[in-house]
Amino acid sequence: MTTGQHHQNAHPQQFVAVLDFGAQYAQLIARRVRDLYVYSEILPADITAKELRDLSPSAIILSGGPASVYAEDAPTLDPEILHLDIPVFGFCYGEQILAQTLGGHVAHAEKGEYGPATLTRSGNSILLEGTPKEGQTVWMSHRDYVDQAPEGFAVTASTEHAPLAVIENTEQNLYATQFHPEVAHTQYGQQMLSNFLFQIAHLKPTWTMDNIVQEKVQEIRSQVGNGNVILGLSGGVDSAVAAALVHKAIGDQLTCVFVNHGFLRKGEPEQVEHVFREVFGIPLVVVNAQERYLDLLKGVRDPEQKRKIIGTEFWRIFFEEAKKLGDVQFLAQGTIYPDIIESGSRKTGKETSTIKSHHNLIPFPEGVHFDLVEPLDHFFKDEVRALGLSLGLPEDVVFRQPFPGPGLAIRIIGDITQEKLALLKDADAIVREELDAYNATLFQATGARDKALEQDAPGVPACAYPVWQYFAVLPGSKSVGVMGDERTYGEVIVVRAVESSDAMTADWAKLPYEVLSSISRRIVGEVPGVNRVVYDITSKPPATIEWE
Ligand code: XMP
Repeated sequence: MTTGQHHQNAHPQQFVAVLDFGAQYAQLIARRVRDLYVYSEILPADITAKELRDLSPSAIILSGGPASVYAEDAPTLDPEILHLDIPVFGFCYGEQILAQTLGGHVAHAEKGEYGPATLTRSGNSILLEGTPKEGQTVWMSHRDYVDQAPEGFAVTASTEHAPLAVIENTEQNLYATQFHPEVAHTQYGQQMLSNFLFQIAHLKPTWTMDNIVQEKVQEIRSQVGNGNVILGLSGGVDSAVAAALVHKAIGDQLTCVFVNHGFLRKGEPEQVEHVFREVFGIPLVVVNAQERYLDLLKGVRDPEQKRKIIGTEFWRIFFEEAKKLGDVQFLAQGTIYPDIIESGSRKTGKETSTIKSHHNLIPFPEGVHFDLVEPLDHFFKDEVRALGLSLGLPEDVVFRQPFPGPGLAIRIIGDITQEKLALLKDADAIVREELDAYNATLFQATGARDKALEQDAPGVPACAYPVWQYFAVLPGSKSVGVMGDERTYGEVIVVRAVESSDAMTADWAKLPYEVLSSISRRIVGEVPGVNRVVYDITSKPPATIEWE
């Protein structure tokens, strides 16, 4: 088996490089820059000045990070990066490493400073323009602090515990803050970032949805030329947006393949066909493989085995179809930025020690090769959603909740049969109907949906559904009940609904009793064979979101 070669997408003309000294900060910074309509990208902190210069960023941000500059394995900075004649802005660790590199001094504090602090400005500062002279709140999270600025630097603001809270060398365009401008708790953080980008680095806020679409369309056309492209639709957001975008760029040179394994939720396969074939007019091959999958999974109880069989068979069918299409050179897919960040940086070609193969790696059969088209590989999830909306995809596709690739197959505990699958689909449809309605009222109340729909911005708020994921599970353990005058021995349905922001941790949703009651009544009343409904009240950890 081999895996696909990734095409290296070009940068937009202007971009901000965020050097990553500690991942949790870097992603947030990249988001904040993009919120100001400037493209930004995260790069490893150990990138060399030469590598960085070759990428020609318009500005550089040094992120915060958990280390002390004195720690043995502390991330370092190639000093030449500060002499590239590109404006630099360092946050927290970024300030400390900048100061240390240029001959300033970093001190250890007895105690760390975590939380709000009050900033007092002194002298003029373009970076701090538009922010109050006294009394603004900034957010600190540090132990070490800079106690001596490098030569040529002015101190333009301080707090009680950080005398050098803002330092700047306007001649060389080097700026740094001890606090974190990227967090919402820093009252004027976005103003400072905006001053840095627009007044100091003279960037233009041109990374808007319209421009992004145009740019991507050009990029796809120039990569693909007259070639043909194939794309596997899963029913999920990413592949749907990738399909809409590639189709906008090259029209009928794109063929989509939808392998219906039978484990999507009620109504979803029909929706995929409707949206792509009828609304978008994309050539679509639908492979109805339900029977084949049920056969392959007969008697299989182990969840990992199920996942493996479903995944392997998907690619087998997909490549069969690709072969039938004949002359196809490219394979497009909806890889998104977090997949790339997690799997290490492709841009610099560096292998990082934490490489984790991302889920979109394709097991090409021996002798088969496609060039990859990955137009979303620099977008965060909410940017993908915004892009989807601007390409005209329906809201329920764009705001679809996360759904596992193996689908309902891992929500039927133990072996899968046609009957169980039909029963789970019906119960799940009721859970969704009831909770869609409940979620919509909450969503309306927070205004998040309106915001997402109105803005022509790449950085619309994250999906922001108050309830992150909700579904039914068929545990396969029967229980006794009584209906009319008769005892029954029927299936149990588990309702799972969780709140989460990234699926890494989750809490069970505190749904109103009326909503739970209505779900329970409807499932028992409308789905024959079910006589009991229970609600899963476990958080993650210790449980997981899914049951298998
Ligand atoms: P767990 O159950 O691990 O799930 O808490 C975390 C998130 O991942 C989804 N999930 C999957 N997604 N293939 C996928 O594409 C899978 O095999 C899979 N298993 C779990 C799950 O729905 C949740 O959003």
